[in-house]
Formats: sequence, C-alpha cells, structure tokens
Amino acid sequence: MRNTSSAIRELSGTRDLETAAGLAAVAHRRLCEGLPFLPERSAADFLPRLAWMAREGIVLGLFEGESLLAYSGAFIVEDFRHEGPASFCPDWCRAAAPGAKTFDAYRLLYRDLAPWAREKGALIHAGCSYSTDLEAIEALSLCGFGRIVMEAARPAAELALALAAASAEAEGTGRRGARPRLRRAATADAESLARLDSSLAAHLAASPVLMPRTRGRDAVEWAEWLGREGTAAFVAEEEGRLLGFLKAEAPQYDVSFSVHGDDTLAIDGFFVEPARRREGLGLALLGAMAAQALGSGLGLMSVDCETTNLEALAFWSRFFRPFAWGFERRTCD
Ligand SMILES: CC(C)(COP(=O)(O)OP(=O)(O)OC[C@H]1O[C@@H](n2cnc3c(N)ncnc32)[C@H](O)[C@@H]1OP(=O)(O)O)[C@@H](O)C(=O)NCCC(=O)NCCS
Repeated sequence: MRNTSSAIRELSGTRDLETAAGLAAVAHRRLCEGLPFLPERSAADFLPRLAWMAREGIVLGLFEGESLLAYSGAFIVEDFRHEGPASFCPDWCRAAAPGAKTFDAYRLLYRDLAPWAREKGALIHAGCSYSTDLEAIEALSLCGFGRIVMEAARPAAELALALAAASAEAEGTGRRGARPRLRRAATADAESLARLDSSLAAHLAASPVLMPRTRGRDAVEWAEWLGREGTAAFVAEEEGRLLGFLKAEAPQYDVSFSVHGDDTLAIDGFFVEPARRREGLGLALLGAMAAQALGSGLGLMSVDCETTNLEALAFWSRFFRPFAWGFERRTCD
C-alpha cells in the first residue's frame, strides 16, 4: 500500500509543525464551508496545539520525499470516560495535503500510532474527526473504530427560530400537556438539581449507553457551579417540584476546539423526568437557553452527546448540526 518513496516519521522541528498547521487550517476551512457559523481558525491557531502534541504526545507525518502528505497524532488521556488510559487524537490533529491519497494515508499513520499507544499502556484508542472529513471517518471505521460522540452546534438566533417553529407545530397537534413554569435555576435549587443529575447519571449508566462510574454533581457542587461566572441553568417546575433542567457554560476542555471562543455557550447537562418526556419540556428549556445566549450577546450554541443515547441523539440531531464525531476502538494486550 505504501508508495516506495513515501515514509512515516515523527514531526518535531518548527518547519514540520508549520507545514502541518497549514494543512490543519485547510481542513478547518473545508469544515467551515459546510458550517459557516463556526469560529474562524488560521494556521497560527493550530501551530501551538501541534507543538504541544509533539511535546506531550506524538505527531507522525507521512512524507513523499520532503513533502508532507498527511499527519496524525495522539496524546494519552489517563482516565478516558472513566474507562482507563486512552490515546486521543483531537479533530485538528489529522489532516492531509490536497491531492494526497487521504484514506490510505490515515490508515498508514494509524498503523504506526497504534504501537505507540500500546507502549504507553493505552488499550483504548480514541479521537475526533470533523464531520466533513469523510475520508477520515471511512478510514477510522475500517480500522475498527466506532462513533461514540456527536459534537454539534447551531447559531443561537437560528436555533430560537427553529424552536419557535417546532413549538407552534407541536401546539397544532394538541399533544402538549400542562405547562410547568420555566425559570432560571438559583442556589436554592441545588438539592433538587442534584436529584435530577443523579437520574441523568443513572440514565447514562443504563443500556444502551452503559457508561461506567457515572455520577452527577451533589448539592454542594451544584451550588458552587451555579455561583460561577458565565454559567446558566434553567429548570421546569410544577407545584414546587423540578421536572427537568438544562445547563450551559463556556466550552470546557472536553469540548472540541472548533467551537471554543468568547461567542459560544456550550450545553453540558440536560434532563427531563421520564414520565414527562415528549411534552415539549426539553424544547421549552432549550428555548429559554437560546434566549439567554442571545440576551448575553452569545451567537453560537454547542452540545455533545453519546451516540448510544437514543433520546439525546434524536433531540439534538433535530435542532443542531454535527461538526465532529468522537470515535473509539478497544484493543487488547
Ligand atoms: C433528551 C430529553 C431531555 C428530551 O426532553 P423532552 O422533554 O422529552 O423533549 P421534547 O418533548 O421537548 O422533544 C422535542 C423533540 O425532540 C425529539 N425527540 C425527543 N425525544 C425523542 C425520542 N425519544 N425519540 C425521537 N425523537 C425525540 C422530537 O422531535 C420531539 O418533538 P415531538 O415530540 O413533537 O416529536 C429527555 O429525553 C431526557 O431527559 N433524556 C434522558 C437524559 C438525557 O439523555 N439527557 C441528554 C444528555 S446529552
């Protein structure tokens, strides 16, 4: 498969990394052609990330003579999703030069990255790929990876309009029941939010998500979180009882770099009591959050969810646009 004049070697010097950052910028531009609301990035944004990856992990390049055809890298996450050590390749850490045989290149690079991960004790191989990088998705699938996470986004203004249309459509069917009160969560809600959060953790622990060692925030952690600047949570309340919540904040370390920026509100917690699902509560909570984003001058909203989470994937796929997919492969000793 490998051309006789092509070779894989580690990227390290400034020149190598600058070339890779240029390819990263081209791949990102392609992503933004399909999803123009994502924040712009340039090679200068990717260079320090690639330098970090070369220092802390590994970045391999496939070369034809002196030309970089493609690169891919990884670093070690000590306890990936509470499941043990994993090698992880972020979405910006894989790109190919125009005209390169991308599918083959990514597979060749993975063949050389996998032993590095094993040496580091990482039997879980994971990563993320732009939703527009179809060759990466195909190459990963045919190397034994499966999609485990959807990362998605939508401009807040566009989302507010879509939600208003969905609400109007649902009203027309007469399927919506009693209307709980929607309001911003306060510190006094910490106990009730902890109760709902532990139900969310139980949902993620149950089939088919089967996430190990899930746990929600306790009341003390909720009170601390609610007091943090830039956080927002809304609740649906009926006769003094909370039926659901939605929380969001600036994108955290586990959210793709593609949506990081001062303009983004990242959703990272959502739950509605099972007995009250499909009544439009989720829709109403998201509408309140979109209005909050717009009122705070935040133009973009993002979310991620497990692909195995049936309800969540169905909900988010209706209102958000996927920009990246998280992948995972299990190997053994
Ligand atoms: C995801 C969740 C919060 C949605 O809350 P909800 O109040 O039931 O959602 P809504 O009633 O507002 O649904 C709005 C639309 O989303 C879609 N949707 C929601 N749940 C769905 C499901 N189970 N299957 C298919 N579509 C679904 C539908 O298009 C629905 O509109 P419709 O009922 O008119 O067809 C709820 O299912 C839940 O708590 N799930 C468990 C916790 C969880 O997975 N949280 C998300 C973590 S990322």
